[in-house]
Amino acid sequence: MLKAGALGGLGIASLSSSHEAVEARANAEHLQESQTKNNSVIGMRFEPRAVVRVGIIGFGNRGPSHLRDLLSIDKVEVKAVCDIVREKALKAQAMVVKAGQKAPDVYDQSDRDFERLCRRDDIDLVYIVTPWDWHAPMAVEAMNQGKHVGVEVAAATTVKDCWALVNISEKTRRHCIMLENVCYGQNEMMVLNMARAGLFGELLHGEAAYIHDLRDQLLSDHHEGDWRRIAHTNHDGNLYPTHGLGPVAQYMGINRGDRFDYMVSMSSPQKGLDEYRAKHVPPGDPKWKEKYKCGDMNTSMIKTAKGRTIMLQHDVVNPRPYDRVNLISGTKGTFRDYPPRIYFDGQKGGEEWATLDNYKERYEHPLWKKVGELARKTGGHGGMDFIMNYRLIQCMREGLAPDMDVYDAAAWSAPTPLSEMSVAQGSAPVKFPDFTRGGWKERRNDSFAS
Ligand SMILES: NC(=O)c1ccc[n+]([C@@H]2O[C@H](COP(=O)([O-])OP(=O)(O)OC[C@H]3O[C@@H](n4cnc5c(N)ncnc54)[C@H](O)[C@@H]3O)[C@@H](O)[C@H]2O)c1
Repeated sequence: MLKAGALGGLGIASLSSSHEAVEARANAEHLQESQTKNNSVIGMRFEPRAVVRVGIIGFGNRGPSHLRDLLSIDKVEVKAVCDIVREKALKAQAMVVKAGQKAPDVYDQSDRDFERLCRRDDIDLVYIVTPWDWHAPMAVEAMNQGKHVGVEVAAATTVKDCWALVNISEKTRRHCIMLENVCYGQNEMMVLNMARAGLFGELLHGEAAYIHDLRDQLLSDHHEGDWRRIAHTNHDGNLYPTHGLGPVAQYMGINRGDRFDYMVSMSSPQKGLDEYRAKHVPPGDPKWKEKYKCGDMNTSMIKTAKGRTIMLQHDVVNPRPYDRVNLISGTKGTFRDYPPRIYFDGQKGGEEWATLDNYKERYEHPLWKKVGELARKTGGHGGMDFIMNYRLIQCMREGLAPDMDVYDAAAWSAPTPLSEMSVAQGSAPVKFPDFTRGGWKERRNDSFAS
């Protein structure tokens, strides 16, 4: 078994003090694993309810889109909205009123005013749609106050906070669902069905990525706050792993018969933000004081307990068409996205990719059959956002277990700190904690089963 940051086997003899600090942190964080006894929430059902009462925190770019979806789903009541920027919270309040609901209460007094929202006794579910570093503290507070949580990606940015989410979810018996919308994409759900039906044979390898040219968003003043760019000044690793990784993890049944075991990671040089700033940011702008340290293209390899492999990439600062790769490959065939294409052993026409269209009739996911048209009309990202929100409300109303649980949130978020540890140690292997404490061994196909 590899230990966190095991370097001996790689022949790396000496470490700089910063490397030692990273390794010490990794070890300390991994120790959290054994600190609470098993009280798993795997498969735990929501208590059924006629209406789902929601409070939402954060109305920047993303929050209003969740609100729009939730307001178009039957039996959802929005009770409270929160943002430190009053105008944003008021806009959200107006959206709710326009949809015919009573005006929700507004929380905008300070960056801890969300705590008052969480303390209300008329909320079942808190949505957290704030910058990354706020996700875990807000989710912990909401669960401590007895609320289920839907938290934007990534759920946490440190291994310690991944454990905090797991521990609080288990202690309070509240679910913490990371709002990984990509798992609900039309192609992703169809390929999940095909993988489960055995079309790709025994699964061996997956590839996942977040390759998205965000240079304008990161460096211009008319987009999100600075938080997203600031991450490039103090981290070198994969800053945003979950969109690519979530669906591949679902295909492979991660936490449902297999689990992430360890990863290695390396980063290319940092160039993209420097070059873009030189061209687009005027001299004297405070952004010129920043030093970007995150390598442009981060590539990691994850090894699973069953020995399978996943390549995981991140690049948001170079000119390249959007790509999550979304590849799954096994002994009988391969699917690869962007554009979607498929190849099966012995396929007619020889070694050429074929279209996915021929499989649609048989393998289209029932949720897409049922609400796909409404989803495309209502929800962002081609409808996947609406399907995710619709499904979460369905699970809560009908008393089902959620498709994704706190263990998924922790495992899919962990590559951010783990990749950083590996990069800092010359690409040394870094162990994933077993957030399920052994629960992963049970093979399950019950998620996304509607
Ligand atoms: N799943 C997806 O497809 C998707 C798409 C975009 C963004 N996101 C995620 O959504 C989250 C938000 O992204 P965004 O683009 O909306 O960012 P944003 O900066 O536009 O919005 C964040 C909002 O949170 C508010 N906020 C910050 N701290 C707060 C606090 N303490 N209390 C209350 N409100 C606070 C800000 O005022 C702002 O309105 C991020 O985690 C991002 O990764 C996900």
